[in-house]
Amino acid sequence: MSSQTQRAPSDFVANRVRNLAPSPTLAVSDRARQLKAQGIDVIDLGGGDPDFITPKHIRDAAIESMNAGNTHYVASAGLPGLRKAIADKLLADNNVEVDPNGVVVTPGGKQALFEAILAFVEPGVDVLIPEPAWVSYGPMVELAGGRPVGVPLDPDDNWRLTEEKLAAAVTPAARVLLINSPNNPTGRVLDDAELAAVASIAAKHDLLVFSDEMYEKILYDGHRHTSVATLPGMAERTLIFNGLSKAYAMTGWRLGYAAGPTAYMKQVAKVHSHSVTCATSFVQTAGVAALTGPQEFIGEMVEAWDRRRRNLTDGLNNVNGISCPLVEGAFYAFADVRGTGMSSSEAADRFLQEAHVAVTPGVAFGAAGEGHVRLSFATSDDLLEATVERLGDLLGRRSA
Ligand SMILES: Cc1ncc(COP(=O)(O)O)c(C=O)c1O
Repeated sequence: MSSQTQRAPSDFVANRVRNLAPSPTLAVSDRARQLKAQGIDVIDLGGGDPDFITPKHIRDAAIESMNAGNTHYVASAGLPGLRKAIADKLLADNNVEVDPNGVVVTPGGKQALFEAILAFVEPGVDVLIPEPAWVSYGPMVELAGGRPVGVPLDPDDNWRLTEEKLAAAVTPAARVLLINSPNNPTGRVLDDAELAAVASIAAKHDLLVFSDEMYEKILYDGHRHTSVATLPGMAERTLIFNGLSKAYAMTGWRLGYAAGPTAYMKQVAKVHSHSVTCATSFVQTAGVAALTGPQEFIGEMVEAWDRRRRNLTDGLNNVNGISCPLVEGAFYAFADVRGTGMSSSEAADRFLQEAHVAVTPGVAFGAAGEGHVRLSFATSDDLLEATVERLGDLLGRRSA
């Protein structure tokens, strides 16, 4: 080919990828890392990574498994013992009955969601997503050729999901309704009325429900997690997504799963077998140790996050222009910055450039997240205290 006819690198890029933005939460952490590399003392509250090391008995299980020679491919959908441990957990914790054959073990919950979206979403298919929503849902749907349809929720109504809001968003092409409770970024835990609204719309419009329950163990003030699959008629049309990243402080291990009726999960398993083959062998052994071993440390982590949640929220509510409700679950504060007069991106930029605090702009979670910024409090008390100091210095203090 002559040089005149050579394609530029961008000409090679598939349309579905060309306009895809990289993950905004990972971008925040990347920018924070770059500033840190320049010697700037940045506090990075952009990510969603527990600040605890994985408990020792789980680490030991992986080491023993590796040393015993479990370094090979394993059954694609997961070790039988882990699929059973997950099915047992779903029954014991969530009161959801799933056959172990309806479980696919993936390298992280993100991959589980991606595989299911590839299995059930295609051009001409709409996916309803209440917003604010985790940053990757929309791009995953777009990668599958589908259309994410946001269901905007209202901060002044505590981000409440109602049947009316869902009904107003349903399109003839809607095939999937994707919910996330406890929610990243708002921390909302769907209550009984909200779950009933989801079930009613799903039944009326014959939708599959994808229920992302990644933060189910991270709850405060007596809030309880109920899987939508426990509502009448819902187990048949719900796929549950979960993983060990958050509850077991295992983000770097990459271990998650999707679970649901085998008729659907068989399709997910096909995508899985052709993409990742299997989740890492010895990590899966560690997953069995995590799910079947002592669980007390989860409560200890949640206790620490609860303390930080209260302190950070109190502190932020003393900063001019910021108003921050106590979240119900997960480990993010979703602070309302409308009172500063800045957009969420302007606020996040100024916080990073001038206060050296990295946060995620709310608009990254959909238009409904505008006017807010997300701060992870899965970090040390000292850094959170310093965050409040720095933002108070930048914007002024109410009590001053
Ligand atoms: C709402 C939600 N779902 C899923 C995931 C995926 O987690 P992982 O891939 O680490 O299991 C995350 C990670 O931040 C999340 O916030």
